[in-house]
Amino acid sequence: MMRNGKILFSSLKGGVGKSSASCAVAAALAADGYKTVIVDLDFRSRSLDLMLGVAENVLFTFDDYLKERCSLDALLVSVPVPPSRDRRAGEGFLKLCPAPSEEVFESDGADSYDKIPEYLERIARESGADYMVCDTGADSRMPAIIAGGFANFAIVVSEQSRTALRAAEATAERFTEGTPVSHVRLLINNFDIEAARRSGRAGILEMIDGCAVKCIGVIPADPALAALQDAGLMPGASSPVTLAAANIARRIQGVQTPLFHGMKKERRIAIL
Ligand SMILES: Nc1ncnc2c1ncn2[C@@H]1O[C@H](COP(=O)(O)OP(=O)(O)OP(=O)(O)O)[C@@H](O)[C@H]1O
Ligand SMILES: [Mg+2]
Repeated sequence: MMRNGKILFSSLKGGVGKSSASCAVAAALAADGYKTVIVDLDFRSRSLDLMLGVAENVLFTFDDYLKERCSLDALLVSVPVPPSRDRRAGEGFLKLCPAPSEEVFESDGADSYDKIPEYLERIARESGADYMVCDTGADSRMPAIIAGGFANFAIVVSEQSRTALRAAEATAERFTEGTPVSHVRLLINNFDIEAARRSGRAGILEMIDGCAVKCIGVIPADPALAALQDAGLMPGASSPVTLAAANIARRIQGVQTPLFHGMKKERRIAIL
């Protein structure tokens, strides 16, 4: 079982679901009983505090911690997560490390970026986290900084379009030799299985087969997701996003899990 996972979600393409997927997977890891810290590293447009419904509890940001203006306890915001059905014994949690604005972060000089891996390492150590999940924006600098010194597991996120897939492949190429990243995996998000079948677009198995990066999972489209996120609510236990994220969390833990395990509808459609 992989512990000490330092997972980086990224894509050079915007709006493909990096933040949605990182929230869902982090919540699934916590629900499985793991101590999980999710770090919002999108300093251009932070969104995780809103998506996780804890915006009002944010007092400090990563910038304050890096400049040693707050303790780790004051920095991390607890996020309530219902336990998964087969939760292990043990004390899992989900805590958010909120993002500063880029302007604030850079106000003391651009060399603050060099300190990011060291301070992420400190958060991992002091919080006792089993998993650190880092969400990044659609730029190339942040993933390179984190993968260069911190992340050991990179998840590149794509939608079902060919342009998004190409962007994911290009992103994956950045996490090769010279970084501590030992696993690079593709996550296909927002997949509309029925529409793909109707329109004659590439089916899910063709897509996975045709990509140079090994796939860690498929998160189906959930038409209710955007409205839930606007209300600061996480998708419920029966959402395909939650079910798919639980499968991805198991694979991260090293547990072999069939593609649409526990997802009757998707299993049925995918093999048609
Ligand atoms: N599986 C899904 N089903 C339905 N809608 C989704 C899904 N995943 C993401 N979305 C929607 O797509 C939009 C973009 O998602 P998100 O913000 O997670 O992408 P992102 O890659 O983090 O974007 P950015 O590049 O701006 O950081 C949001 O409105 C979100 O609700
Ligand atoms: Mg995002």
